Amino acid sequence: MTTQESNQREGKLRDLLILVPYVKQHQLNLWLSIALMIISSVISIALPMFIRRAVDVHIMGYDLPGLLLLTSIAFGLILVTTSANIFRGRLMAKLGQNSIRALRDDLFAYMQRLPVKFFDKIPVGKLITRLTSDVDALRDLVGNAIVSMVIDTLRLTGFLALMFWLDWRLTLITLTLAPILVFALTFLTARIRKAEDQVREQASLVNANLQESISGIRVIQGFQAEDYFHEQFKIEDYNLLRAGMRAVATYAYFWPTIDLSWLLSTAAIFYFGGQWVMDGTATPGDLVAFIAYTGQFFGPLRGLSQAYRIIQRALAGAVRIKRIMATETEEKANLNPMPRITGKVEFENITFGYDPEEIVLHDISFAAEPGQTIALVGHTGAGKTSIINLLCRFYNPIQGRILVDGLDIHEHELESYRRQIGLVLQEPFLFSGTLRDNIRFGAPEATDEQIWDALETVGLAEAFTKSRITLDTILTERGANFSTGQRQLISFARALISDPRILILDEATAHVDTLTEQKVQQALAKLLAGRTSFVIAHRLSTIRNADLIIVIGDGHILERGTHEQLLAQKGEYWQLCSSQNMAQIC
Ligand code: CTP
Ligand code: MG
Repeated sequence: MTTQESNQREGKLRDLLILVPYVKQHQLNLWLSIALMIISSVISIALPMFIRRAVDVHIMGYDLPGLLLLTSIAFGLILVTTSANIFRGRLMAKLGQNSIRALRDDLFAYMQRLPVKFFDKIPVGKLITRLTSDVDALRDLVGNAIVSMVIDTLRLTGFLALMFWLDWRLTLITLTLAPILVFALTFLTARIRKAEDQVREQASLVNANLQESISGIRVIQGFQAEDYFHEQFKIEDYNLLRAGMRAVATYAYFWPTIDLSWLLSTAAIFYFGGQWVMDGTATPGDLVAFIAYTGQFFGPLRGLSQAYRIIQRALAGAVRIKRIMATETEEKANLNPMPRITGKVEFENITFGYDPEEIVLHDISFAAEPGQTIALVGHTGAGKTSIINLLCRFYNPIQGRILVDGLDIHEHELESYRRQIGLVLQEPFLFSGTLRDNIRFGAPEATDEQIWDALETVGLAEAFTKSRITLDTILTERGANFSTGQRQLISFARALISDPRILILDEATAHVDTLTEQKVQQALAKLLAGRTSFVIAHRLSTIRNADLIIVIGDGHILERGTHEQLLAQKGEYWQLCSSQNMAQIC
């Protein structure tokens, strides 16, 4: 991933076009800022001319009132520039923040719709970095670099023009020192940019590492693996330090080099300009104004090189963001919505692998009638979850079709299809928010009454009322303030509320104790009633009651039939049943 990323990192300016629609919304701010910048630039271009006049006319002419008047005008102009700059800074910050917020928002919405496959390949921490620091790079571009580029170019041209007009000889002397600057601005910037890229890349690894160890903290502490993770973190963090040091070390040359070239030109101007003042081909005012110009000349140069860096960063960010946005979402255009289904499910010769080179499911075919319960059993890694993943359209099969009510699910709109599927997983996804939000997130229009009904059905209502848990009770992240059984039942209630036509339980009851399991069983019976259900479980009587049991082994269907039929066969299922795990159901 890393090498691939760095190979593709070079962005083209046209990649920045993704920003246009966002900036457009606030273009008034942009134009106003540019106008304000023009005002302050014109003033800063003009000021050295005031100095020149002050020296040559008023000071040399012993004209104190004239000097006072000139100084007052200059003072007024300086006030104008300062206010213009403050105002412009605020406008640009607003522009940057607002347009980037919109971009971040779009990116989030887009990311939520990316195929699950995408998330298999990229660590969460990296993705988070993408949503934050890459987007920040673009914010700096919008809020800073765009305007600075326009204006600094203007100022630079203005300064150069006036410098030539004042004294072309001195200007040429100043420009002979340009090679040092060109060196500083190109060579050093390129190196700094490379180093900063490494810093960002490494920072995203540190973030990925942090994210993993925080979300796994219970297991880590349980296994006393803190030291191991600390070591891992130290390694990544040390690499980050080294990358950071490299960037800083290169950067340390940057300003001194620019300052050096400025100092050298000032010295040269004094020496040669001083001579020309002495021989009368230049006035003292010319010399002083010229030195003021040389000093200011480096301002826009600095601004431009900074803008250049921001653009480079933004380019890298834009490329990565574009790559996310260019990842194909699952949806083909213009598909018909999936009508309300009765729940007949057919797999027709499905072959599938997460990696096309490595086939995980071989030629799987089966049919489930509406309302039937299908149990998928088999050893770990056999391919049970993979079948479910395909049914949910998290992945696409390599060969074969999946039909629901006779309709190919890949030829119909994803959203209207998924809405009719309920998914309950071993580790229920509960998020920080109220109990209400957690239950009705599959059916946002559900009323409190319906939610309590559902809680009643899954057998939680009584216990919740007793312990004063209301729908407004806040769940901590992943529902850590509820027991595992409660969390499972909450996720049942959620499935119940969304009233899916096809229900999928992937090991949903694997880790509940026997008492809870009884409750879960009752809740389950209600949940399964009237829906086509796929159940993956190791030790549930649900398997025994299933209308069809499919035994998977190594991605093949080994056996199929009812509990009695399969036991009578004395084959794979019988063997599975005899093993410890399944003892309870046989
Ligand atoms: N697999 C994979 N990439 C994934 C998920 C799974 O390559 N993102 C592979 C696994 O290595 C496994 C095979 O796909 O060899 C089948 O996995 P799965 O369907 O998840 O197996 P289950 O039967 O669900 O196993 P378990 O009972 O452990 O859940
Ligand atoms: Mg599984």
